[in-house]
Amino acid sequence: MYPLVLLHGFPFDSSMWDEVVDLLGEEGIPTIALDAPGFGFSEVPEGEPCLEDAADAVVATLDDLGIDRAVLAGLSMGGYIALATAQRHSSRLAGLALLDTKASADPEAARENRLRIAAEAPGAGSAVVADMVEKLLGETTRELDPDLVARHREMLAAAPVPGIVWAQRAMAARPDRMHVLEDLTVPGLVVRGTEDALATQEDAEAMVHAMQAHDGDAELVLIPAAGHMTATEDPEGTAEALAAFWRRCVG
Ligand code: MLT
Repeated sequence: MYPLVLLHGFPFDSSMWDEVVDLLGEEGIPTIALDAPGFGFSEVPEGEPCLEDAADAVVATLDDLGIDRAVLAGLSMGGYIALATAQRHSSRLAGLALLDTKASADPEAARENRLRIAAEAPGAGSAVVADMVEKLLGETTRELDPDLVARHREMLAAAPVPGIVWAQRAMAARPDRMHVLEDLTVPGLVVRGTEDALATQEDAEAMVHAMQAHDGDAELVLIPAAGHMTATEDPEGTAEALAAFWRRCVG
């Protein structure tokens, strides 16, 4: 049975998925959450930072665990890594779920901002990502859930500098991967929090449209009253979408 493999967003680690993993476990869905390079227990690889290395690390872990194919689900940066994995190792995928992410490359200004953050992080530490909380969480969460806001501030403060530097440089270098979705031959899912300020409805619809180019087996699930962090803002809604998708993939 193909497991569900979860890839986290920047600048967090696999623990970002804890509630979702518990909920999926209750549904009997085999789930593994992996750390991206430089986060959690994962080391930064040598060489120029690139998401292709992160994708190869995902597959190396599948190899280590004796897993032939998996349903891959990535949130934001995790989505970029999932897309790179789909491009480089398509035969290892039984399904692709992209949450709060986009398949396009960065515009020049965003790329320059990433390189600035990467350059400042060694001196300034995790302070360079502190203000992300406003953009990561939806308006509803920021107004109604101060504990969750505080938890995200703590997670941002704990973000490791080597991971911040590696990931910002790797994300800045990523190419447009919409064509990967057009070539997808496994089921696809796009999930978006309706209050996401970082990945737009247009991004989400473009990805679903591209996924439908091949065999049409793709859908968009919107999570109301959540921002960019659907997995932590609405773990129940996120787990429900992923559980239904996993069942569709393993059919
Ligand atoms: C994330 O949540 O992983 C980041 O917002 C990704 C990005 O900076 O594009």
